[in-house]
Amino acid sequence: MKPRVFSAMQPTSDSLQLGNYLGALVQWVKLQDTHDAIYGVVDLHALTVAPEPQQLRDRTRATAAQFLAAGVDPERSIVFVQSHVPEHAELAWLLSTYTGMGEAGRMTQFKDKSAKVGESGTNVGLFTYPILMAADILLYDTDLVPVGEDQRQHLELSRDLAERLNTRLGEGTVVVPDAHIVEATAKIYDLQEPTKKMSKSSVSPKGTIEILEDPKKIAKNIKSAATDSDTVIAFDRESKAGVSNLLTIYSALDGRSVEQLVADYEGKMYGHLKVDVADVVVEYLTPIREAALDWIESPDRLDAVLADGAAKARTIASATLDRLYDRVGLVPPTPGR
Ligand code: AMP
Ligand code: TRP
Repeated sequence: MKPRVFSAMQPTSDSLQLGNYLGALVQWVKLQDTHDAIYGVVDLHALTVAPEPQQLRDRTRATAAQFLAAGVDPERSIVFVQSHVPEHAELAWLLSTYTGMGEAGRMTQFKDKSAKVGESGTNVGLFTYPILMAADILLYDTDLVPVGEDQRQHLELSRDLAERLNTRLGEGTVVVPDAHIVEATAKIYDLQEPTKKMSKSSVSPKGTIEILEDPKKIAKNIKSAATDSDTVIAFDRESKAGVSNLLTIYSALDGRSVEQLVADYEGKMYGHLKVDVADVVVEYLTPIREAALDWIESPDRLDAVLADGAAKARTIASATLDRLYDRVGLVPPTPGR
């Protein structure tokens, strides 16, 4: 039996951006070779930001389409939508009764997000968000969870909850997951503000490289990326953040190391580098974009894949939930359940 990997993304944007792709999806695709992989579109999590209903529906399908287009293979891995598997919400409730108020209150992402919107704009779901995330992970007896650095604390909570369940309800109640923090190798920064992480919710649309964007617009964004007043192409995150970001992107897609690229571009101008990076990115993303648009344009085909994924996910999730419900002392609804 291969170890199990679980990861997920929220459907909170019309398109994923290059950072999601290089920082997460590339890893997900690779892990399919060595792991039993389950990847979710976590739409229940997205409800915490009060999305417009039709937009949530479109973004849920578009996010799944981009997983598939990037190479997540539904023949080998489970691809599903969180709300299709009711056990997620059910386990989240159970876990909330095992989570201390203070423990949940220490989550820095909650503090940041709630500070931004103020108390009147903060819903309880935003507070319990990490508990739902723990449910996602623990339902599948997950061994490994690849996530970005910003999710480290949430992962730690999932591990603490898993250990607590095993202590209180007996060893083997749940698997304690390991974090697999995707290191800075492919951390992509905003093209306009290269000290900030490229993000789906970036303020300047010119700063991102969106996978579903028109290739001409992508090239334009790259060609107008902020650099510095120097002229030497070199890698220095401190003093040359913009150029360094372009080199990181280039290296991730082209296979040449950053050192090799610096050597190859010696004496050349920033404009030259930008044109080449734009070409590489467009060439790389075009087939992915086209595959994603194909899925989006045939929602019946996409929904069928997601229905199949949900059925497979439910088989695993319901067994875990039954085990937990039994161990905490809930009476089964049907004899022998
Ligand atoms: P988010 O867009 O925050 O929901 O992130 C989804 C996944 O993409 C997480 O695993 C992040 O770590 C990864 N990710 C998002 N933005 C970047 C970025 N700029 N560079 C590298 N990885 C990223
Ligand atoms: N909170 C994660 C993020 O914003 C998304 C997520 C939800 C997740 N449930 C998960 C990631 C379970 C890994 C495992 O990136």
